[in-house]
Amino acid sequence: MKKKTENKWWKNSVVYQIYPKSFADSNGDGIGDLKGIISKLDYLQALGVDVIWLCPIYKSPMADNGYDISDYYSIDSQFGSNEDMELLIKEAEKRNIKILMDLVINHSSCEHEWFKKALEDPNSKYANYYIFKEGINGNPPNNWRSIFGGSVWERIEESNKYYFHTFAKEQPDLNWECEDLREELYNLVNYWLEKGLGGYRIDAITFIKKDQSFKSFPSDNDDELVDCNVGCQNQIGINKFLKELKEKTFDKYNCMTVAEAPGVPYSDLKDYISDDGYFSMIFDFSYTDLDVVDGEWYKARKWEINELRELMFKSQLETEKVGWGALYLENHDQPRSLDKYIPKEDISYESATMLATMYFLLRGTPFIYQGQEIGMTNCKFNSIEEFDDISTHDQYKRALSAGLSEESALEICNRRSRDNSRTPFQWNDKKNAGFTEGTSWLKVNNNHNIINVENQVNDENSLFSYYKRLIKLRKESEYSDIIISGKIEPCLIEYDNVIAYKRVLDNRAILVINNFNNSESSIKINEYVKKVILSNKDELLVQGLKYVLEPYQSVVLEI
Ligand code: GLC
Ligand code: CA
Repeated sequence: MKKKTENKWWKNSVVYQIYPKSFADSNGDGIGDLKGIISKLDYLQALGVDVIWLCPIYKSPMADNGYDISDYYSIDSQFGSNEDMELLIKEAEKRNIKILMDLVINHSSCEHEWFKKALEDPNSKYANYYIFKEGINGNPPNNWRSIFGGSVWERIEESNKYYFHTFAKEQPDLNWECEDLREELYNLVNYWLEKGLGGYRIDAITFIKKDQSFKSFPSDNDDELVDCNVGCQNQIGINKFLKELKEKTFDKYNCMTVAEAPGVPYSDLKDYISDDGYFSMIFDFSYTDLDVVDGEWYKARKWEINELRELMFKSQLETEKVGWGALYLENHDQPRSLDKYIPKEDISYESATMLATMYFLLRGTPFIYQGQEIGMTNCKFNSIEEFDDISTHDQYKRALSAGLSEESALEICNRRSRDNSRTPFQWNDKKNAGFTEGTSWLKVNNNHNIINVENQVNDENSLFSYYKRLIKLRKESEYSDIIISGKIEPCLIEYDNVIAYKRVLDNRAILVINNFNNSESSIKINEYVKKVILSNKDELLVQGLKYVLEPYQSVVLEI
């Protein structure tokens, strides 16, 4: 067997996630594109990131904004051309930045030629690339509910045959049981790696194995359906596929892989992220989804900082036992972190820098989602029609059918819609926030007159500059080795709403304390404090052995 590469460069990296449709539009059609991204590489280099993860840019009918791919080998013309992609890889490389693409191989688009051929000729090999089943007494083959609503089964016109889709009906699931299909997928994974790609973010990968009995389960709701996770998330037998995927693709390159892997219990984590695991790291949703019930965000739940702390530390410790993790506050499926974690009236430079410090110095590779570094917030949408996102429309309907008023349903969408993070990037205070000369495909947040890059890049006291400082501290300071390789030790949990931890390497350590209270917290530190490495306030009040942290103050101490 080939020796596993020793150079795990991603452990020293900071990743920046781009939602290409909303980042920068170069040709005025209202849609962000690759040339736009290329024009902003200097900005990203100035911030200090090493890796860019691009949400899908392959050819797609865009039912789910690119997560429905109709040709894995072509860049969608909305975003540019294959040449633009190669140019982006080269231009990024000049700046020591690697590019990750999004790998969506649980499903394709219904407009992929494989699917079209499968429908045209049920005897062709392509019919086995997807999952087709006969209906039962005029009903779908089973009662599983798809993630974007309704049955996972879509009936094929004028027949009793159905095809399976975990997500929208425009996203038919690929049949991983079929060896030919798997080989096709490995080829395309390698195709882009050969082009010099740094690796992949792997979409919805824990859904690829289905319980082959396809049996119905007792319903969990009054729609008589049951969450499809019971039969298609992290099912027995998935290991074989993931191992094969890794061996036939990733293992041959020194590439970084980060998997979206919901439903992996901590007891299985080792298989995923250990040195011989399927991926370099996975995203853990246990604490970022603490405000919703079973991933269905129309059902909100109350939560507290102490609970966030408990779940986050659990995740850190479980990850440390077996491998490496991914750190994030936001992504294209989440609302903005300031709105989620900080009460509205308390959103400020202090609370934003505190939140940044809190997650950035944990153990793992930090991800910054576009706009997070300037404090972009949720957007106010005035009606359901203003939303584009397919899942927002579904959750809105589900909220209404659960008996909520239109007003409350809209309020829920404003709080949790994925469009909150997809509004155009705010470059300046001009028309469309400098994102496009044309008409933007999605609403631009009104607050771009205050929250924008131009206001922050040259201001040493801006959130942007603070992120820069955090990145430097992580990557090129005398504490880098502690931050990258040190052990994680949660501490000070006797203080409510304070998230504090140590990072310890041999006989050196740092202590990170974040006061989520909007009142002072007086904290007794038992160790000798050698130095204040970073604070988001000019003052740090010390009274004897006690450190008095102001509301939303965050400090990093050498102990
Ligand atoms: C993942 C993506 C999400 C997409 C879904 C279906 O969860 O992050 O944006 O809608 O997969 O591909
Ligand atoms: Ca464009």
